[in-house]
Amino acid sequence: MAGVEGRVVAVTGAGGGLGRQHALLFAQRGAKVVVNDLGGARDGTGAGSQMADAVVAEITDASGEAVADYANVASSDGGAAVVQSALDAFGRIDVVVSNAGILRDVTFAKMTDEQWDAVVKVHLYGTYHVTRAAWPHLREQGFGRVIVTTSTSGLYGNFGQANYGAAKLGMVGLINTLALEGRKYGITANAIAPIAATRMTEDIMPGDMLASLDPAYVSPLVVHLAGDECSDSGIVVLAGGGHYARVAAMQATGVRFDSVPSVDDIAAQWPAILDLEGAQLGRPFSG
Ligand code: NAI
Repeated sequence: MAGVEGRVVAVTGAGGGLGRQHALLFAQRGAKVVVNDLGGARDGTGAGSQMADAVVAEITDASGEAVADYANVASSDGGAAVVQSALDAFGRIDVVVSNAGILRDVTFAKMTDEQWDAVVKVHLYGTYHVTRAAWPHLREQGFGRVIVTTSTSGLYGNFGQANYGAAKLGMVGLINTLALEGRKYGITANAIAPIAATRMTEDIMPGDMLASLDPAYVSPLVVHLAGDECSDSGIVVLAGGGHYARVAAMQATGVRFDSVPSVDDIAAQWPAILDLEGAQLGRPFSG
């Protein structure tokens, strides 16, 4: 196969914003798409079938193939239901794009357990549940593409988003290991860190900035990562407003002691331990 033609793709949270753009582009490129969306509000409250149905109608009106799925990815049953929708409609699952998301922004000092749990459940558990349900199918067929949606809020931090940032960077930890475990089965696992004007960001970014951040800019990256020709795995790519750039964990050259150093030894070498001059891509052990 070439690109994503004939592939079966599930996009979670595809009833609006970025997910909708991904779904439309996948369909345009000949993929069969499960358009999952719970259909709730930005904070995750409420539910409905209208959002997913509207995107499916857009795709089928343009002679593409798509089915709607209304599952809540925050539960194990919901994740399984998304994959089952792909199997029922198209007989297989090749690509899982975890995109569904909510916000419950508040400073850490004021954050309740409920606000923490709600965000971690949709983003990190939601990604886990859908990917976990697809994994045996991907392994068995010797092909799979797992794409998760992280954020600069996780990679770099963002005021008022401790819950969101923690969940988002958790996904990078997930793909780092899935890239290793999936390699011999032809499964890649990658992350995108998008920046786009959607209902999620409409009151967070200034208007002139939003005008340059059409979510459509992000989708070609997602479809590229999902394609047969892209075998890169375990990478994170930032995308927004026409700018695309890899983000990676770097490791400094550092300092080596031949015996257990004292606290004062660490303090004395502190500038050299922190110095990023000559840093290279991070690796598990630099012995
Ligand atoms: P959005 O609010 O338009 O899209 C999120 C979609 O997920 C909504 O359609 C919503 O109904 C759906 N959803 C929420 N909870 C769900 C659940 N439990 N099960 C199924 N569907 C559910 O926002 P946007 O911006 O399109 O966000 C898409 C993804 O991109 C999110 O993961 C978000 O965190 C991430 N992101 C977006 C950025 C941006 O600049 N817009 C920046 C960084 C990350």
